[in-house]
Amino acid sequence: MKIDNLIDFIDLDEVVNLTGWIDNIRDHGGLTFIDLRDFTGNIQLVYDKSLDVNDNLKNEYYISISGLFKKRDDSLINPKIFLGDSEIQVSSLEVISESKTLPFQIENEIDTDENIRLKYRYLDLRRNSMKVNILTRSKTFKSIRTIMNNLKINEIDTPTLIKSTPEGAKDFIVPSRKSPSNFYALPQSPQMYKQLFMMAGFPNYYQIAKCYRDEDSRKDRQPEFTQLDLEFADANPEIVKTNVETIVQFVFQDAYDCNIQTPFKTLSYTDCINLYGTDKPDLRIKETLIDITDIFSNTNINFLKNIIDDEGLVKGLHSKNTLTRKQIDSLDSEIKDLGATGLGWLKVDSGKISGPLSKLLNENEISKILEFGEGTLLFQAGKLENIAKYLDIIRRSIFKTSTDEVYSFVWIEDFPYFEYENDQLQPSHHPFTSPKDDDVFKEDPIKSTALHYDLVLNGVELGSGSQRINNPQIQKIVLEKWGLSQDEINERFGWFIEALSYGTPVHAGFAIGIDRLVAEVLNQPSIRDVIPFPKTQSGHDPLTNAPANIDEHTLEEYNLKYINKDE
Ligand code: AMO
Repeated sequence: MKIDNLIDFIDLDEVVNLTGWIDNIRDHGGLTFIDLRDFTGNIQLVYDKSLDVNDNLKNEYYISISGLFKKRDDSLINPKIFLGDSEIQVSSLEVISESKTLPFQIENEIDTDENIRLKYRYLDLRRNSMKVNILTRSKTFKSIRTIMNNLKINEIDTPTLIKSTPEGAKDFIVPSRKSPSNFYALPQSPQMYKQLFMMAGFPNYYQIAKCYRDEDSRKDRQPEFTQLDLEFADANPEIVKTNVETIVQFVFQDAYDCNIQTPFKTLSYTDCINLYGTDKPDLRIKETLIDITDIFSNTNINFLKNIIDDEGLVKGLHSKNTLTRKQIDSLDSEIKDLGATGLGWLKVDSGKISGPLSKLLNENEISKILEFGEGTLLFQAGKLENIAKYLDIIRRSIFKTSTDEVYSFVWIEDFPYFEYENDQLQPSHHPFTSPKDDDVFKEDPIKSTALHYDLVLNGVELGSGSQRINNPQIQKIVLEKWGLSQDEINERFGWFIEALSYGTPVHAGFAIGIDRLVAEVLNQPSIRDVIPFPKTQSGHDPLTNAPANIDEHTLEEYNLKYINKDE
């Protein structure tokens, strides 16, 4: 029997055959109404007692029906819903599969705990709002493939059982039974392989690639995520950025029906930190940080004096609104939880200054603060690299995003080559990135900038890329300056440096986080909402219960043993 698709119903008064789930069932004086849900939508079914059907139908039973597709009585038309003016007069109904009692209702709005939703993800995905998310993801893949074909970029795949690729996170490791005591790593990205394609003579490459990073999950981070990975030979950052803009513009038009303007704005890393306190600024918020160090140049406030004498800054944000004590206290505890010493604030209300430091202000400070006008001045004092993240949080919590721009893209470039993470030097991108100037890098790598560019959308790092090193000597020097010993360089990267040594084109590339892209477009609170089967914050899959113990006999085959099984 041919099964029709709801969406294809056009002709009234025809007999149709449908399958779907019972979304809802109601009895009205001898007439039974069922809302039947299939992949494309809902339709009302109606039948009376004369029809011989199982009278124990329940929600989510999967049924098959035949009937006449007809217009509803005028009094029963619901103009608000798709197909709300029609219904099917059922002539036969068969239950294909029954359903147990549901753990939650299949409705758009539910407040069910996320762990339960993930445990029954196949039911969660039946909800229309989740279906829209997954279909938008699917459309994104389709549009990416279309534009890649239009641009003649080659789709090539890379292995997932590899030797570690450093992207700043810990690896997931995979033991090998055939080679006990040895391990593969799952790729944190296909970085080195895509560079090898350039060395192998391919002019360009793309892949919708799975990447794995054993790090804490957050709303925009998953241990397993999906990138649109790109690489171009004979390329420089401008060529890559233009290609990325063409791709992003096409996907927004084709998949999301949304016209975005290119070229995107560009900001340097230094300007970004000075103006926004972050290298992922949300430019829909128009207010920027202000430097108020000068106001306090002759201050009597000891802690500010000490900070300024030590070449620190006082940076703040001025809100025309007089914030309430509750708002200030809540921001204060939010930034303190992250390590700040506290939130500085001064309020000007009816021409009077209040706040914990107001009594200590000198004449000059009072007059300068009054010049801001009514409202609240919130500030942080210290070295910019220490206070920037708190200023970013304050900016994002006290100001609203403007509504005249739904999607605000910005390129960030001129990153420092290295940054300190837990007192360890780390490349701000990865160690295959070209320094902006090789000689400056050799002399003082800490002061050197990288040919690394990020694309930020609405305050979210959407993608990242760089000009690559194509000179094996420079690659070695970068690894040395990163702190690797000659043995480590040879053991971990010897094969890659060797590969760079046989005539390597200049090349550059980029990767866009597809989960972040879809979540941002759909304005979802977390990338978990746009990934069909995501992990929880702790990396657990409540549906299958992965990761799970392996029995000791199997472990033995891999020459492995638990140290503490309960951990
Ligand atoms: P990077 O590590 O910056 O660069 O990653 C590129 C983009 O991938 C997304 N992303 C993530 N999304 C979800 N969960 C995660 N844990 C996660 N980590 C990263 C982000 C990010 O901007 N090999 C380089 C790219 C290159 O140089 O070509 C790389 O992977 O959107």
